[in-house]
Amino acid sequence: MRTTMARRAKAVPSDPREHARSIAEAVDEAWHGRYGGSRIEVPMSVVAALALVAREAPGPEQLDRLGEAAERLDHEGFGLLIQRLWCEFAALRPDLNPRTIHLWSWIDEEQDETVLRAIHAVGQAALRRGVFERFGPDGWGDTDLLGMLLQTMKSRGARNGIGQFLTPESVTLLLGRMNTPKEGQRVLEPCAGTGTMLLGAAQAMREDGLDPTTCEWWANDLDPLAAALCAVNLHLWGLGWRVVVGCGDGLLNDWMHEALRVRQVAIDEMERAWQVARQIAGVRRLLDLPHPEDPLSAHLRRAQPKPPPPPPPPAPASSTFDAEAVYRQARLF
Ligand SMILES: C[S@@+](CC[C@H](N)C(=O)[O-])C[C@H]1O[C@@H](n2cnc3c(N)ncnc32)[C@H](O)[C@@H]1O
Repeated sequence: MRTTMARRAKAVPSDPREHARSIAEAVDEAWHGRYGGSRIEVPMSVVAALALVAREAPGPEQLDRLGEAAERLDHEGFGLLIQRLWCEFAALRPDLNPRTIHLWSWIDEEQDETVLRAIHAVGQAALRRGVFERFGPDGWGDTDLLGMLLQTMKSRGARNGIGQFLTPESVTLLLGRMNTPKEGQRVLEPCAGTGTMLLGAAQAMREDGLDPTTCEWWANDLDPLAAALCAVNLHLWGLGWRVVVGCGDGLLNDWMHEALRVRQVAIDEMERAWQVARQIAGVRRLLDLPHPEDPLSAHLRRAQPKPPPPPPPPAPASSTFDAEAVYRQARLF
């Protein structure tokens, strides 16, 4: 049985696209209603982090526990939780990390109270609309939740300028069926938006019993936010490790070389960071140093529900006054 968060989630639309729309509208309202500001990549980053953790959670119980903890956290604690989720993603997918920077760079900046409260409100809105209700590899695996968010939150004028009108999943699936990639092929999308064309191609492959992770998936977009969302999507949709996402002019060829170069630098950097982390952990073990509590753990601990007070001890039986005996002996009536 799903726990509080899920029970309180409004009835979740069975159509994944309608569900995505419902989340996007609630998030848009929460962000602007709390004066979040013009940086729409921030609320998108919150939803992307929650969708990623829904995919990676080992099971619904762990997700429920996380949902409940997230619900209890205050705005500072919730900001730290989102920060931690992005760190986890960086460790899991260093190859995609540089492309997603547009989504998480705000984490390193000092946030004012109002923005932190808006971030918190966005998280609560997404959770209440059931972002965790679709979980595991298939959870958000056939829907462009992030594309829906981009289209909802970005102004029509800003999208008009670069023709950013994304193709719905039903159409990209049809196109995918008409030109299904073969295993091991390279698939290129130089103006990918949030990547729905690649989703359609991958879905069509799966329908034919083919494994899309055998393909090379190359995506690019001029808009860094769309490219960042696309990078997250390619992981959410389970397209595997042969994924390269660029951000440049798709009419020129050099985006591919640049994307590949940036990807390799990020993988090498992460490898070095792991080496240093392993050395530090080794030294700490050797010196038997205590592990200081990190700020997120401290917030989670403080947000734990207080255990109910112990029941009062039973009233001690009177050893000096035996009413029954007095009654029997005195025979007052
Ligand atoms: C009509 S949308 C289509 C996106 C995606 N192919 C789909 O079907 O959903 C066009 C996308 O191309 C991007 N774009 C426009 N000019 C571009 C260029 N010169 N190089 C790369 N991307 C470009 C826009 O940012 C937008 O995301």
